[in-house]
Amino acid sequence: MGTEPTFQPFEYMDIENDKIIGFDIELIEAIAAESGIKVEVQSLGFDALIPALQSGTIDIVASGMTIDEDRKLQVDFTAPYINSGLALAVVKSNETIASEADLKGARVAVQIGTTGAMKANELKGKGIVKSVKTYDTIDVLMAELTKGTVDAVINDLPVTQAFIKSGHSEIKIVGEPMNSEQYGFAVAKENTELLKKLDEGLQKVLESGKYAELLEKYDLPENARP
Ligand code: ARG
Repeated sequence: MGTEPTFQPFEYMDIENDKIIGFDIELIEAIAAESGIKVEVQSLGFDALIPALQSGTIDIVASGMTIDEDRKLQVDFTAPYINSGLALAVVKSNETIASEADLKGARVAVQIGTTGAMKANELKGKGIVKSVKTYDTIDVLMAELTKGTVDAVINDLPVTQAFIKSGHSEIKIVGEPMNSEQYGFAVAKENTELLKKLDEGLQKVLESGKYAELLEKYDLPENARP
């Protein structure tokens, strides 16, 4: 299983134990236990995950990956396992950007290969956003926001919320969520057998108390459940 681990609470580093932890990791492990498969976690860049599935380096992507029409041409997704969406964040002292409508002329930071990057590029294409800066990891793009090299960040709402909660009160979320998205686990196109196992396992974990337990453990709201 491959994941990009700077995406708290879904996948992030437990520094002390040098281990990748998070909601997605525990969910996929619970699904694996239900379906009798063994999962090993590998860290990759977010933009390397779909190519790694296609080349067979990994079998599953569990990385807060949004189920999206373009990606569906390349890989297959399980049923959704989380409701999410994009949010706009700025530094607390910013009083000019209060919503998406205020992005005129703004420099926006995003993570490479994400739906946030797609959204920012779309706003740039419309002549609204001035420039889009792409970073490999979420911690770096948040650091750039704090430093002031960019004016705003477009990232998944629950991840930016968790980042702020983890001691970064210098950042705030502004405006309404920019859209609605759902995460799925991805497998290679021809891997219908594994897809079926994951979907059946996910169903069982959703029905047992385990899914609710994980939502609570990772401080995710009840409406994150698909
Ligand atoms: N949900 C967004 C997408 O699919 C962002 C996912 C980023 N995940 C990560 N582990 N960094 O594009």
